[in-house]
Amino acid sequence: MELILDNVGKSYGGSSWAVKQISLHIKPGVTGLLGPNGAGKSSLMRILATITKPSEGNVLWNGVSTAVKPDRVRAVLGYLPQDFGLYPNLSAVEFLQYMASLKGMTGRIARRRIEELIELVNLTDAGNRRLSSYSGGMKQRVGIAQALLNDPELLIVDEPTVGLDPEERVRFRNLLSDLSGERIVIFSTHIVSDIEAAAASIAIMHHGSLLAHSAPETMLERMQGKVWETTIPDSELQEAKRNWLISGMIRRSDGFQVRVVSDSFPCPGARSAAPTLEDAYLSLISSEGDRI
Ligand SMILES: Nc1ncnc2c1ncn2[C@@H]1O[C@H](COP(=O)(O)OP(=O)(O)O)[C@@H](O)[C@H]1O
Ligand SMILES: [Mg+2]
Repeated sequence: MELILDNVGKSYGGSSWAVKQISLHIKPGVTGLLGPNGAGKSSLMRILATITKPSEGNVLWNGVSTAVKPDRVRAVLGYLPQDFGLYPNLSAVEFLQYMASLKGMTGRIARRRIEELIELVNLTDAGNRRLSSYSGGMKQRVGIAQALLNDPELLIVDEPTVGLDPEERVRFRNLLSDLSGERIVIFSTHIVSDIEAAAASIAIMHHGSLLAHSAPETMLERMQGKVWETTIPDSELQEAKRNWLISGMIRRSDGFQVRVVSDSFPCPGARSAAPTLEDAYLSLISSEGDRI
């Protein structure tokens, strides 16, 4: 099972490209697609879900072009779009029955699968309540359940954690990592901590381009020796922000303790710090920003 993107680009007709020459080889497990708003994540995911065609390049599902034979991938696809809408007057069970029949699943097979999914996404007690009474997290879990109806080999979920409270985010992440196993899961977000726990590989996008694709450990290794901590007085904060890439700060009684991302020793008194994915992400995004 493999998904290959070969120089995929998408233009909506304007002067700039939403997706620029992306080449990726995606294997089973969770791949996190990380990038700020407008990076091109949803555009890329719509291409993978065969909702839209790439303007250039190819997507190959097990070696077959998804533009030429979209049915091959659609048969094994589960997709949760970013702007997924539920019908408020239906219950979760009714909604899933409706979606199942659209996918050609009926009768006992559909009923059994829906029961399983309701349990999997932890909605057993609420399954017969109207969706209008659900919290954001519960709605997202119904969204995931509909994407899983056909037990997809390729599961694409676009910014599923937007609007969730911290507890719901954690539950949702855990659900996604439980699901991976023998399928490809592609999960987009603009929040680093969302993918830290779940993703075995991370692809970082910015302004339509792919800046990095590797295991989180590799991203951290590349940042070794490039993250520093130092404490500066309040009066120097503005200047520090101008001169350094600051990936975090904590208020202290004697000023601010700042995390600085820098290839070289930034100032006397700075201590080397263990890098985080947030540091790696900021470093990639900001150096790309400079080139533009
Ligand atoms: N249907 C569309 N028509 C025209 N431009 C679009 C369309 N969808 C997205 N874009 C543009 O493409 C760029 C990438 O958007 P999007 O793929 O939604 O990024 P992300 O999901 O990372 O926020 C943005 O500049 C956005 O305005
Ligand atoms: Mg998006």
